[in-house]
Amino acid sequence: DDSTDTETRSPVVTVMGHVDHGKTSLLDALRHANVVSGEAGGITQHIGAYQVLSPESGKKITFIDTPGHAAFTAMRARGAKVTDIVVLVVAADDGVMPQTVEAINHAKAAGVPIIVAINKIDKPDAKPERVRTELLQHEVQVESFGGEVVDVEVSAKNKTNLDKLLEMIALQAEILDLKTNSERPAEGTVIEAKLDRGRGPVATVLVQRGTLRVGDIIVAGAEMGRVRALISDQGDTVQEAGPSVPVEVLGFNGPPEAGDRLAVVENEARARQITSYRAHQKRENAAASISG
Ligand code: GTP
Ligand code: NA
Ligand code: MG
Repeated sequence: DDSTDTETRSPVVTVMGHVDHGKTSLLDALRHANVVSGEAGGITQHIGAYQVLSPESGKKITFIDTPGHAAFTAMRARGAKVTDIVVLVVAADDGVMPQTVEAINHAKAAGVPIIVAINKIDKPDAKPERVRTELLQHEVQVESFGGEVVDVEVSAKNKTNLDKLLEMIALQAEILDLKTNSERPAEGTVIEAKLDRGRGPVATVLVQRGTLRVGDIIVAGAEMGRVRALISDQGDTVQEAGPSVPVEVLGFNGPPEAGDRLAVVENEARARQITSYRAHQKRENAAASISG
């Protein structure tokens, strides 16, 4: 029941597109950060989630970065599932490529509006008009071709038109009229999780409804725990995280799986009941798949 969702929330935007078309560079430029330089071989291996303040509207936008490499289809499908808007990054010198098409299909399957960022517009061999024509062949019809899809020519390198892109996202978010209720126990989705040598299980969670707080008893998939610490996308320790806020959660007994739904429950007994049932189901499913 979402009848109590009366507060406006920030849009969650997933950045998708073919490998090396500049998804992470674009996000870095929007955040004034530099993630690309720290990536092994410049290849995104995991999903990052960050909030950016739109200078025009003063509103926050939550961005999820996805890898373009063909091996990460499941991750991109997950990205499309938690998202309100897809920013489709297409390099103007390279045009529509297989993972561009895959991203279009994810967005369409999820019923999520697309905003096209035609990137690398600074390059001498940039052909933005060719990109628009290629998009049309995949039923993405931009405004200048009589369609409704907004496209923005950008350069992550030269920081061209980044405010315009943010403005278009803010506009689309207004049309979507995204609502939530921060007053209830938190619900969210695990974007990624790992076992950290020093900190134990760490899960990056996108809170979608309610407010997650330190001390909350949580379940996600077959894992449970008590929130020991919350760390913001800026690396700061915070006491709580509300709707559309990505946060690192410490305190799980084991790492949940990406895509697992996170929920806050009333007590540990309830958490144990839920997770032991799910663990049992998981074992049965595994056994069934082995016996064929
Ligand atoms: P994956 O996550 O590995 O799929 O790649 P990505 O889409 O995140 O691309 P990334 O940001 O890693 O950029 C790939 C390459 O393109 C890097 O060498 C960037 O420096 C370069 N690049 C990104 N944006 C621009 C741009 O606007 N102009 C130019 N000239 N180069 C760019
Ligand atoms: Na890359
Ligand atoms: Mg990347």
